[in-house]
Amino acid sequence: MCGIMGYIGDRPAAPILLDGLARLEYRGYDSAGVAVAHNGTVAVRKAAGKLARLREMLEREPLPGTVGIGHTRWATHGQPTDTNAHPHTDESGRFVVIHNGIIENFLPLREELAARGHRLRSDTDTEVLAHLIEEEYRGDIVEATRRAVSRAAGAYALVVLCAHEPGRIVAVRMISPLVVGFGEGEMLLASDIPALLPHTRDVLVVEDGELVVLTRDAVRVETLEGRPVARQRLHVTWTAEQAERGGFPHFMLKEIYEQPRALQETLMGRLDGPDSVTLEGVHLDAAFARSLEKVWITACGTAYHAGLVGRYLFERVLRVATEADYAHELRYRDPLVEPGHLVVAISQSGETADTLAAARLCRSRGARVLAVTNVVGSTLSREADDVLYTRAGPEIAVASTKAYLTMLVGQVLLTLHLARLRGALAAEATRHLVEELTLLPRKVQEVLNHPAPVEALAREIACCEHVYFIGRGLDYAVAMEGSLKLKEISYIHSEAMPAGELKHGTLALVTPGTPVVVVLTQRHVYEKTISGLQEVKARGARVIAVAYEDDPEIEKHADRVLRVPRTHDFLSPVVSMVPLQLLAYWVARERGHDIDQPRNLAKSVTVE
Ligand code: M6R
Repeated sequence: MCGIMGYIGDRPAAPILLDGLARLEYRGYDSAGVAVAHNGTVAVRKAAGKLARLREMLEREPLPGTVGIGHTRWATHGQPTDTNAHPHTDESGRFVVIHNGIIENFLPLREELAARGHRLRSDTDTEVLAHLIEEEYRGDIVEATRRAVSRAAGAYALVVLCAHEPGRIVAVRMISPLVVGFGEGEMLLASDIPALLPHTRDVLVVEDGELVVLTRDAVRVETLEGRPVARQRLHVTWTAEQAERGGFPHFMLKEIYEQPRALQETLMGRLDGPDSVTLEGVHLDAAFARSLEKVWITACGTAYHAGLVGRYLFERVLRVATEADYAHELRYRDPLVEPGHLVVAISQSGETADTLAAARLCRSRGARVLAVTNVVGSTLSREADDVLYTRAGPEIAVASTKAYLTMLVGQVLLTLHLARLRGALAAEATRHLVEELTLLPRKVQEVLNHPAPVEALAREIACCEHVYFIGRGLDYAVAMEGSLKLKEISYIHSEAMPAGELKHGTLALVTPGTPVVVVLTQRHVYEKTISGLQEVKARGARVIAVAYEDDPEIEKHADRVLRVPRTHDFLSPVVSMVPLQLLAYWVARERGHDIDQPRNLAKSVTVE
C-alpha cells in the first residue's frame, strides 16, 4: 500500500500535496516525495523516512507551481531509500510517475528497457513506467500512458505528470484505489477520501480499468481502450477520521476486511504456473534444499502462531524436522542450531527485539536465516540472508489480522518453493495445492460476506469470564491464534490447547455454559477431535465449532457452528481464522473496549 495525491488548480500545489500525504501516511510511511510542474519543467523532491524529512527539504528548497503529484511509500520493491522513493522519472525528467501497487512483469520490462539503452536508477517496479511512457510519447501524454500501461501487468494505481503538458494529470486505476475530488476551479486526486476532505466532499471513485484526465476544472473518465465513461459524483458525509479508516469504525475491522486483497498481493507474480514459485528475495538453491536436515521457526505472538502452521507444512510436505519456538525462549536455551540449518524468523514489523536476537544468534552459529516480514527495509529484512515479504500493507491495529493471514500464505509459497527444489511433492499434489491457494482470497471474502452469525455469537459470549479453544494439528495452531485475538482485545481470559490435551487437566475448569471453541477442519483427525468435543459437551460446555460449510455431522455435536468454505486441509487456517478474528472484534466491541489500542499492549515490542 502507498498513498497517492494529486492537485491541479491555482493554489500552490506543494503544501496541498504535503497535507494530503500526511492524511495518507497510514498507508505507508517509509519515504515520500512530490513533483511540481513549473515553467515547462517538473521538479522532484523526495526523501526516505517520514514525511517530516520531505517537509524540511521543501522548506529549504521550495517548489513553486500549482500542479503537482505526491506519494507516501510502503516499499514492495527495493529498500526505502531516497533513490527508491517516488516520484520516478525517465532519464530526461520530463515524464514523472507515482504508483501504488505492483507491476508484476517489471523484471522483463526492465531488461527490455535496458537493452534499448534506458538507464534505470532505482530498484523499484515503478520506474519502468516512466521509461515506457517516454518511449510511447508522441505528443499526447494520455495516449502515451494508455500504450505504456497496456504493456504492464499487475494491480496498481498510477499517476502521470508530463513537463510538456502541465495542464493535465493522467491517472489509471487497475485494482488499487483512486478517488477524484472536485474543488472550485481545482481538481484533486488521492488514494483515499480523507486526503480530499479539507478541500471537497464531492468525489468520484475511479473504477478498475479506467483512465482519468484531470484539468483545472474538469475530469474526463474513459476506459483503457479510450471509450468515454459517464460517472456520477458522490457527496461524502464522513469525518476525516472516519474516512481514514475507509468508513470502518476501527482499523482492526478495516484490516480484517482488507484480507482478500492482501492475500492477492502476497500471491501476485509469485505463482508462474502449477509447479513454479518465484520468491524474489529468496535465494535458496537445490543443493541447500536437498541437504536441509533441520528448520527452526522463531517468532513471537501472532507471528509465532503463524509459525506453528509453517512447522506443520514443512514437516508434512518437505519431510524435514522442524521446530517452532518462541524467539525469547530460543535465544536463551542454547539451541542446537548448526550450519546448513534453515531458520525462518517471522515478524510483521521486522523489529521485534526477541525475534531479532534469536535470528542473530542462529546466524552467528552458521545457520541461514530467512525472514518472513511485512516491512521492507526493516532490521530483520536487512540482517537476514533471504527475505520473503508478506505484502499485507501497513497494519495499524495492535491486534494483528491481515499480517497473520499473509504470513500463512507466505509460508505456503515457501513450502512449495522448497518442495520443488527438494523434489518433495508430486506434480498432481502440487497442482492441487496451487489451485486451492489461488482461490483463497475469494474464500476469505465469502466468510467476510456473512458476518451475522459471528456477531450474534459475540453477543452471547461477551459476558463470559473464560473461553477455551481447542483443535488438533493445524486446527490447534488456529485455536492458539483465536485465543490470543480474543484475550488481547476483549480482556476475557482464554486458553488454547490441543484437543487431546484437555482431559489432562484443563477439563476441570469446564463447567455448564463455559464456551469451548473447537476448530474442526482436519480430515485425518476429525473423529478424534469429535471425541474431545464430546468430553466437554458431557460437562455442559457451550460448544462453538468452526467447520467446513459442507460438514454434515457437526450440527449434531455443537451448539453453534461457524461455517467456512472448504479448502485444501493444509490451507484451512487461512479461512478458519477469519470468523475467530471477527468474533474477537465483535466481543470486544460488545464490551466497549478500545479495540485498536488495547490496554498494556504496543504494536511493536522493540524491547526484551
Ligand atoms: O511485529 P511482530 O510480528 O514481530 O510482532 C510480534 C507480536 O508482538 C505480535 O504478533 C502480537 O502478538 C500481535 N500484535 C497480537 O495481535
